[in-house]
Amino acid sequence: MTDVQVIKMVDTTNGEIDRNIFVDPEIYRRELETVFTRAWLFVGHESQISNKGDFFTSRMGEESVILCRDKNEKVHVFLNSCRHRGMKVCRYEQGNTSLFTCPYHSWSYTTEGKLQGVPQFKNLYDGCLERDDWSLIEVAKLKVYKGTVWATWDAEAPEFEAYLGDALIHLDQVLDCRDGRPGGSEVIGVHKWIIPANWKFAAENFLGDTYHNPSHRSVDLIGIGPSSKSGSVGRRNDAELEQAQHIWSSFPQGHGLHSAIAPADNEYVGSYTSEPEIEEYFRSAHEQRKERLGEQARLLPFTGTVFPNTSYHGRQPRGLCVWHPHSPTETEAWRFFLVDADAPESVKDYLRHYYMRYSGPAGMTEQDDMENWLYATRASTGTIARRYPFNYVQSKNKFEKNGPYGGDVSFQITEQNARNYYDRWATYLEKSSWQVLMGEDQGDTQ
Ligand code: FES
Ligand SMILES: [Fe+2]
Repeated sequence: MTDVQVIKMVDTTNGEIDRNIFVDPEIYRRELETVFTRAWLFVGHESQISNKGDFFTSRMGEESVILCRDKNEKVHVFLNSCRHRGMKVCRYEQGNTSLFTCPYHSWSYTTEGKLQGVPQFKNLYDGCLERDDWSLIEVAKLKVYKGTVWATWDAEAPEFEAYLGDALIHLDQVLDCRDGRPGGSEVIGVHKWIIPANWKFAAENFLGDTYHNPSHRSVDLIGIGPSSKSGSVGRRNDAELEQAQHIWSSFPQGHGLHSAIAPADNEYVGSYTSEPEIEEYFRSAHEQRKERLGEQARLLPFTGTVFPNTSYHGRQPRGLCVWHPHSPTETEAWRFFLVDADAPESVKDYLRHYYMRYSGPAGMTEQDDMENWLYATRASTGTIARRYPFNYVQSKNKFEKNGPYGGDVSFQITEQNARNYYDRWATYLEKSSWQVLMGEDQGDTQ
């Protein structure tokens, strides 16, 4: 499939996108080559590798990588593949080690990625193997940002902050402590599961598809939110959002999000009324955040997707979710749940239970989403179905440039974020320069 065809498949001017971009194997192969080898990808969180020698096996696109802290406390991300014949040098999900020893012929690598042990070196390799030339493959750039670890294989990629652009202000509100101190979060668990759906369905949903709320009608009727014990309905602590101004913002780098701006008085709205201790913690955090951030505290993060495949939920259940591609029609979802590291254990426990009843394959809300994504994928693979595009005309041309908190903004439910995202996605597949990808030059391609 030629470059020209992909651009034609994403017609954001008329709001039509070809279904083949969600099911076609050739397009999928090009995504792996042009998006996942270049973009900044979320790999894990520092709290998962607190000590020297700690590691967490993660993924970048389809490929396995090792996130680890070396003996000098430096953080690395390595391709999890031996330089001899490619065996995975680490087959555990996480742990602590001083050496990664390959199970095949037992070459071993230090936590700095250096090839150290080569069995029978003197007899078989002396004079013909320079160990320093055969370290584990390491990412080109790595950034630890407020505890989160991001990486890219492209040495030419812009710095992480430039890649995020103004979307960073929103991501900050997810990663910062509830009382407004910068950073300070920790991961209290990771859910991993596989869904038979294209990865972009999930990424798009988190860009701010507020329109899909009817999917969750049953769980809203039951009520599983933080205050569920007191008999309230709904699935989140939404009371605060109900009185806020909602904004849907999209950014030239492809990111998109749905945030809200609290009223000027920014009063605390009780969300955990059935649990006085939890309620007091969040009430106090809210007041301290107001004190600390002033006007900026009115920004309430809701959901968003950092291009291409890292989504977040900024309120409860607070966390990051990565959509790892497996194939055009299969995705591995990893959800990292966040809490303030210095929150009392009772708060962490309370949130852990809430996160579990909301999220993941057994969670009561996320089941609804997955059902939509997997049936939409399956129903788009047929010969007839593939002839007909998806409709993305919602709220077309109803957005403003330079909105509050950056980006183009819509004050109503919109598919503008999705149009912008797929426009950027198609530009990656065209192998465009970083200048074009970052929206600095809409003109030529390499
Ligand atoms: S493949 Fe790793 S030592 Fe041979
Ligand atoms: Fe949903």
